[in-house]
Amino acid sequence: MTGKGAAIVFAVAMMAEPAAAADIEAGRETYWRYCSSCHGEMAEGNGPMRAVLMVKPADLTVLTANGGGVFPLDRVIRRIDGRDPLVSHGSEMPVYGDFFHEGGRETVEAEDGTRVATSGAVADLLAYLRTIQAR
Ligand code: HEC
Repeated sequence: MTGKGAAIVFAVAMMAEPAAAADIEAGRETYWRYCSSCHGEMAEGNGPMRAVLMVKPADLTVLTANGGGVFPLDRVIRRIDGRDPLVSHGSEMPVYGDFFHEGGRETVEAEDGTRVATSGAVADLLAYLRTIQAR
């Protein structure tokens, strides 16, 4: 991606952010630490763990595209914090559970204005995931 392209993506992501701006950099670090081993450095579903997983990790850059242009906020939150367990996350996500309940309470705003309660850590992660959506 060119520098200009990156700047545009970043600017769009900032505009999409709710007033209580989450920390995209913190979210990026969380992603690297907790998610990239399966979902991959570029979040396209091709991390090093992919080879040994029976169910292949989802491409996290097409969440918005697959949602018909709307980031599926509620589903993503539930899948990260384990309220909506995935077979593949089932034994993994509860391990993250404690961490993802840290960072205070936050509400994040969906495109339709609905506010969803989550933790600061998840809010940051979501802010990062929103910046990497393909358009
Ligand atoms: C142990 C490997 C592994 C780790 C670590 C992991 N995931 Fe996943 N994830 C998967 C697999 C495999 C799927 C696909 C499961 C399915 O479709 O049933 C998936 C699916 C998802 C989905 C569902 C996508 C959709 O369209 O609903 C989301 C969101 C997601 N992961 C986010 C994350 C985030 C964020 C992290 C880090 C906090 C993470 N995952 C860490 C393996 C992993």
